[in-house]
Order: sequence, then structure tokens, then C-alpha cells
Amino acid sequence: MSKRDFLSAADLSRAELDDLLDLAARAKGKRPGQVLAGKTLGLLFFEPSLRTRVSFEVAMVQLGGHCINLSRDDLYELEPQEQAVMDGAAEEHVKDAARTLSRYVDALGIRAASRTGGWDKDRQELLVRSYARHASVPVINLETCFEHPCQAIADVMTMRENLVSMRGRKLTLLWCNHPEPKSLGPTHSVLQLAAMMGMQVTLAHPLGFEVDDQVLQRSKGLAAEAGGSVQVVNDLRSAAPGAEVLYARSWASTKYWDDPEREAMVKRSLQGWRVDAALMASTNQAFLMHPLPVRRNVVATDEVLDGPRSVIYDQAANRTHVQKALLMQLLKQGPA
Ligand code: CP
Repeated sequence: MSKRDFLSAADLSRAELDDLLDLAARAKGKRPGQVLAGKTLGLLFFEPSLRTRVSFEVAMVQLGGHCINLSRDDLYELEPQEQAVMDGAAEEHVKDAARTLSRYVDALGIRAASRTGGWDKDRQELLVRSYARHASVPVINLETCFEHPCQAIADVMTMRENLVSMRGRKLTLLWCNHPEPKSLGPTHSVLQLAAMMGMQVTLAHPLGFEVDDQVLQRSKGLAAEAGGSVQVVNDLRSAAPGAEVLYARSWASTKYWDDPEREAMVKRSLQGWRVDAALMASTNQAFLMHPLPVRRNVVATDEVLDGPRSVIYDQAANRTHVQKALLMQLLKQGPA
């Protein structure tokens, strides 16, 4: 039997995205029933999570199934490289873990460690893609350093709820300062899906914090096909004017991926890259979005995060509904 994985925003066509959003909206309005009764979702977290873990567990419970959760401490160190000579620290090959788990569970969700080597290696998402290659059940990406597609669909759902029509609407994806180097996952995935929806996207970041060029070029192509656009600006003053949605998020510099201390040094002069009331006032009454967790009064002030244009908890809430839709589709079950 063939199986479908969900690893990247790039895995979705526009029609599939629309179907998922419609199904998620229906699942939010009325519980679909116990359509996944007896099904088990295995969740493997190699990094911490609050929202992803809880929203997937709740989604499975609402559909009549259940989850098994494993964290890094529960798992053997894994080898993702094919034909590796396993004389190092890794005790088990992903091939064996994936094939074994496929005998127990009906789908697998994996949050990978975001930093294991150089950017050229990490951008390949070796662990999640190796699981997908070897598992005989669907594999869902729960965030890598490169993509966070479940978050992005929930974000598009939240934008659609607030803007109603998305084509031509103005979204700013704003880099914000943060003491830690963060994954590029949410930014890459939201950028691609917003482009697919035909939004006019402004990607605003300081020099040195460019997103992956392949993702940027793909997004530009998707936007052009859908009647939207993607532009990049490198100064904060050009970022917000006209924005109807301001999506704040920090991400690491791929240039300094191997050198977090250098990145921290560079960021000392970038503390002005944060969202406050003055920046919000320069937008077109934008909704404020952030995937959470958020560093309050570093990335964005309390005033704007708790303010009337903030939809950060709606984004988090929509994770459950999007994931119910995704699980129903991947496990080929319709609503009752
Ligand atoms: N946004 C998000 O994925 O949150 P968690 O890291 O808490 O799962």
C-alpha cells in the first residue's frame, strides 16, 4: 500500500491546501467524530515542545485515537546516513527504528534536533527524511531547522479567518532579535504557503539573516502563479507600512550556523528589530502573529502581544483543527 508523508509546505498543491483548510474549518465548527478509533500516532520529540505535542494529542483524542510520546531521553541515538559504519555513538539506525515503529503505530510525527552540523547538512533534514524513506506509515514533520509545515497551515487558517480573502493581502514576515539562534522552519513554511495563497509578502530581515535561497525562489514562483509577490527588505523602517498581517519571528543566520557566538555578537546591534506599539501603528491595522514560544519584551512587547490585534493564541488553537484535518487525510478517513 502506498503511503503519503507530510514533510514540507512544498508537498502541498494549492488545491490540497484549500481542501485541508476547509476540512480544518469544518472540524473546528463541529467535531468529526471517532473516525480514527483504534489508530495510534507515534510522536518522537528530539527537541522540547508545548503546542505541537499537546495539539497533536488533543487532535487524536478528539478523533477517537491516541498518541504514544517519546522524547530524546527515551530513544537510542540514531544514525540517519545510509550504509554508515556504526562504530560511533549511534546505537540504532533510523531504518530499523522506522521499520519497527511502523509495525506498532499508524502514523509517525517527528520533531528533529535543529542543529547537528553545518547548514548544508542540516538543511537536508536527514533524520525526518530518513524516517519517511524507511517507515511504511505516514511521517509528519513536526519541525526541523528548515520547515514547520503544520504550524504554517494553522497560520494560514488564522489569516484566512481574519482577512477572509487572502489574494493580494499584505503580509510582513519580520525577523526579530532573540538571544538564541532559532529554527528557520516557521518562516520557510509560512513564506511558501502565503505565496501559494497569492499574498503580497514582504520578508524583512537584517543583512546576514537571509532565508534559504531555494525556498525564496520557490516562493517567488508560487506567488507569481497566484497573483501575489515576494519582496525582501533589509531595513526595519520599510518592513511594516501597509502590512495587514505582521508575522514576527526570529531565525538563525545560516551564515553563522556553525558559530552561534558570532551570531550573538552580530545581534547586539539588532535589538531594535522587535515589535512594539510604534511599529504596529505604522502598519495598516495589522494583525500580529507569532508561532510561540515568544520572548516577551525582546521579540515583541507585552503591550502588543496582549493587545487587540494579537491573534497568537488563535494560531495555537488552530493547530489542533489543522492537525485533525491532516490526520484524517493521511489516514484516509473522512468525517463521520
Ligand atoms: N509553535 C510551536 O511549534 O510550538 P512548540 O515548540 O511549543 O511545539
